[in-house]
Amino acid sequence: MATLETGAGSSTIVFAAAGADHEVVTPDPAEEGRIRAACDALGISHARVRFHIGPSHEVLPSLPERPLDLALVDGAHGFPYPILDWWAIAPRLKVGGKLLLDDAYMPPVLVLLDALGASDHWELAPAISYRTAVVHKRGDGLLPFDWEGTRVGGAMSFRYLPPPQRAVAAFRHRIFSTRAGLGLVGIARRRDGLRWRKTG
Ligand SMILES: C[S@@+](CC[C@H](N)C(=O)[O-])C[C@H]1O[C@@H](n2cnc3c(N)ncnc32)[C@H](O)[C@@H]1O
Repeated sequence: MATLETGAGSSTIVFAAAGADHEVVTPDPAEEGRIRAACDALGISHARVRFHIGPSHEVLPSLPERPLDLALVDGAHGFPYPILDWWAIAPRLKVGGKLLLDDAYMPPVLVLLDALGASDHWELAPAISYRTAVVHKRGDGLLPFDWEGTRVGGAMSFRYLPPPQRAVAAFRHRIFSTRAGLGLVGIARRRDGLRWRKTG
């Protein structure tokens, strides 16, 4: 698959492991070294992964046109950067291609998701995790120039999930977004890291 992501991390390793012809846009040059080293340690080839260093709103418009099967937007989450990422990626995504929007509960991402959900050119698919929304591109074309009454953005919400998952996600997110919750996650990560080093 021809793939692209804004932001880098474990997702980049997953794209490499899947053998994707993959482009990554991140402003942090150190991430490239860390991700390539992690791939080496895991025995994953990163030969087909290309990094473009810089903020995505500057880098994406300058990339050569390449028809994409799948794109992940997970770089800058402040408004309007997820929207700018989508704007640059949309014409490059093949009709039938998939757009993954991570941290979809955040208003700058949610506003985009709401607008795409109201468009005939895009179709919301079931989310692949409590925070990652999936949109299929169904056709080329711009979104309407006039606001047609679509409710866009608003407060943080998991409204793209089915109701039972929505309740769990909202509860879990509230717990793990507190200082105490983040502390617990940090302890669990350090414990897992120790276990990994002992067995690895
Ligand atoms: C949430 S992390 C990405 C996590 C990654 N997708 C994963 O699964 O591990 C956010 C990433 O966005 C990058 N980033 C921050 N500002 C950015 C920008 N303006 N353009 C592109 N990437 C940006 C950060 O350097 C970081 O790699």
